[in-house]
Amino acid sequence: MNEVSASAPKKRMLSGIKPSGDLTLGSYLGAIRNWKGREEEFECFYFMADLHTITVRQNPADLRRRSLEQLAQYIACGLDPEKNVLFFQSHVHQHAELGWVLNCYAMFGELSRMTQFKDKSAKNADNINGGLFTYPALMAADILLYQADLVPVGDDQKQHVELTRDIAKRFNGIYGDVFKMPEPYIPKVGARIMSLVNPEAKMSKSEDEDPGRVTLMDKPEDIMRLFKRAVTDSESCVRFDTENKKGISNLMSIYSAATGLSLEQIENDFVGKGYGDFKKAVGESVVELLRPIREEATRLLADKAYLQKVCAEGAQKASYVAEKTLRKVYKKVGFVAR
Ligand code: TYM
Repeated sequence: MNEVSASAPKKRMLSGIKPSGDLTLGSYLGAIRNWKGREEEFECFYFMADLHTITVRQNPADLRRRSLEQLAQYIACGLDPEKNVLFFQSHVHQHAELGWVLNCYAMFGELSRMTQFKDKSAKNADNINGGLFTYPALMAADILLYQADLVPVGDDQKQHVELTRDIAKRFNGIYGDVFKMPEPYIPKVGARIMSLVNPEAKMSKSEDEDPGRVTLMDKPEDIMRLFKRAVTDSESCVRFDTENKKGISNLMSIYSAATGLSLEQIENDFVGKGYGDFKKAVGESVVELLRPIREEATRLLADKAYLQKVCAEGAQKASYVAEKTLRKVYKKVGFVAR
């Protein structure tokens, strides 16, 4: 993409990930995998949601390192910076500005009902800050600034996209058609990858929270070890049953997503075979899925100048589009023109 035009006929796709930990198999299957190859149909905007990370305390040096790694991993996952706008949220000041405005159109009651707020405040009881609470208003700004049509996310972010729609509807109801109504796009397979050590909990980017996470940069031997130790059950039958066989069902979803095999085919292929064979097959499929990503990300990370150039160009393109929306919003609410 050489030039982003606000009046482009293409629809827009937008999504982001917080660099709050290392990207995982969950981040890839639930989100990034569905971002790529869409450039023919959509103008694509993908960002590192760094503003969102500080709702939980971060080590500054780690945050900086992980943020750049995330950019390299986006590219390594197949997002060509010539065809997709890749940028850091903090480089496009319009996010914070529209975030503030939308804070004033997001209701206390609806923010209080957000599952992520409830989870995160339980986990960070000593730091339940205002940002953690108003986070969905910033996320609404991220989406609405670009007049996005489609927002590809995992299952856990659906509630936030729905709130974004409610905020947009409220704002449009007062001021006329300012925002486009975005739709969430949740994949059929891989929308909620669970931890390999605790199949009751979502696979998380943070190692402290999830020792059963597979990251995009894990080496093959580490991946095989994690799958070998994956929690299953005592039945020894590869069958999809998310109620009674959460561990096996999670491994089946991962295997299906990695190989393209249907759940039924997987069940048939493993009739009479033990869990050992199955876990090995799943591990190997993930090793092959992630190998090219790890290798390419490692190569890109050695070229910091290139990454700087990509994110500078991305921020410029993103800012151009974002500013149009922000200006319109400021005018509608009654601010004096600059
Ligand atoms: P975050 O950073 O928690 O997760 C990034 C994306 O990965 C998906 N995901 C998963 N999918 C399947 N299984 C898992 N275990 C798993 N873990 C994460 C998430 O659903 C998400 O799609 N608030 C967002 C970031 C954000 C954003 C936005 C997204 C900020 N602004 C605007 C879309 C549009 C977040 O915390 O995602």
